[in-house]
Amino acid sequence: MKTDILREELLAKMSLTDSLPTFDSILTRLLGIISDADASLDQLLEVVKCDLAISAKIIRIANSVFYCRGSTIVDLKRAMMRIGLTELQDIIVCVAFLKDITNQWGLNLHDLEDLWVHSLAVSNAVKVLNRRAVEHPGKAATVSILHDIGKTILYTYGDKYRMLIEKARRERVDICDLEKETFGIDHQEIGYQLSVNWKMPEEVSWVIGNHHGREGGDGLIHLVCVADSFLDDRAVDLGEEGIILERKADFIKNETTRMSELIGKA
Ligand SMILES: [Fe+2]
Ligand SMILES: [Fe+2]
Repeated sequence: MKTDILREELLAKMSLTDSLPTFDSILTRLLGIISDADASLDQLLEVVKCDLAISAKIIRIANSVFYCRGSTIVDLKRAMMRIGLTELQDIIVCVAFLKDITNQWGLNLHDLEDLWVHSLAVSNAVKVLNRRAVEHPGKAATVSILHDIGKTILYTYGDKYRMLIEKARRERVDICDLEKETFGIDHQEIGYQLSVNWKMPEEVSWVIGNHHGREGGDGLIHLVCVADSFLDDRAVDLGEEGIILERKADFIKNETTRMSELIGKA
């Protein structure tokens, strides 16, 4: 009975999120461009320049220690060229969606950092697995970074949800089962509903809604499932792909630290 009430409460919270001020046409257009295989830097520039906050963050990142080689850049196009399309896609999805949206919900900074560090790690692990470019990088980055977006609403329950995450880690059980027991809904269903409210491409929503299917399916969902399983529990046998990820574990960790520091300071 109590889980039914919580489920209803969560569904009501979700229905409010499509009216968030940040979720205007700029973010919808950015996501559309990033998820398009033929996206170009010029197309991104046309939309990014309409949003002062995102533009300012990109310029700050381009002038950070990692990218800055000499002269300071104040021009948005040059800043975007300096960072490069692939990393821009990660940065825009992470900064514009995950960080800003969740900030609006007043979530604890530590919870948010956990979430975006994990999301970036999944994105980097997917890049390692996606070397043969089965999927285009922009769509893979979007899905990887947003796959756990449903957790953001559950984090609004504070310790109640943190204890669940801790229990899943300690007892090595799927967090979705614990979420359904406690809240009557899991973060996949919440994420799916949010992404539909936000008019994300259907393929993106589908992966968000089904990424705990373990290694099932093929294409993008397979890559996200394997990367996510590896990062949740490195002891799980993931066959050849697990061996590849294990070999690249240091690279994934270092890239994730570098990106999360860049985004955290932006
Ligand atoms: Fe998940
Ligand atoms: Fe995850």
